[in-house]
Amino acid sequence: MTKSVSIKKVSIEPCHDLWIHPTRTEFIESATSFILEYSQECIAKQGSFHIALSGGSTPKAIYELMCQEPLKKIFDWKNMWLYWGDERSVLPSDENSNYHMSMSAGLNKVGIPQNQVFRMVAESNIEENAQDYETILQTHLPSGKFDLIMLGMGDDGHTASLFPHSSALTITDKWVTPNWVEKFKTWRMTLTYPFINTASKIMFLVSGPNKKEPLAAVLEGKRNPTLYPSQLIGEKSHQVVWFSDEPACRLLKGI
Ligand code: 6PG
Repeated sequence: MTKSVSIKKVSIEPCHDLWIHPTRTEFIESATSFILEYSQECIAKQGSFHIALSGGSTPKAIYELMCQEPLKKIFDWKNMWLYWGDERSVLPSDENSNYHMSMSAGLNKVGIPQNQVFRMVAESNIEENAQDYETILQTHLPSGKFDLIMLGMGDDGHTASLFPHSSALTITDKWVTPNWVEKFKTWRMTLTYPFINTASKIMFLVSGPNKKEPLAAVLEGKRNPTLYPSQLIGEKSHQVVWFSDEPACRLLKGI
């Protein structure tokens, strides 16, 4: 799996490491290797690996690769604990559910113990279920933080379900919250940005030409997190690794 790929690594102040891969294929392989190696490191240290998964088409390709041979045999699935960073208000059997997407990409077939998989229940009583999800996280996460949070970024600069101008952007005293998304006229459940920023590692996944404008705005534009919520992610003490490919980075000036 660890092939020698020419990855260009750039640091962007105050807290971003940008890894630029020549193609989407190399980007997927490199992100997957990163998850594998970091899971092995955490399991060697604490006996478990706690990851928040993301929705979106890019993470799906990563889950598929993780769940196929040869990696299927290499991941220590018995010690993996799965959670999600956000969820739509749909049943877990719905095609649009992030849980459904992740599990049907193969994660339901690799032998992760059922009691180590925690989906967000966002289809009903979302306020109460968000509080319950926070309790689940408080109960199971070692030292109250994720080992790794995977994040995608929408073309509008949203991440997880932290959408531009939405009320969740102002929530700083919770780990999990419902969020009304006006654009889609629907509720979502999402981790809050201050909680995301406590994770030991945060990885963003951005690939393809549709991401070139938001990526340039988030990393090099004027600070405006109400418009580009992804700018809320990362702090000086919490570096974020951006996995990207050349088409997504085309508008960046400083690379
Ligand atoms: C969701 C996601 C969301 C997603 C981005 C990027 O449920 O919609 O969690 O934040 O990651 O929209 O999605 P793509 O990888 O498909 O561009």
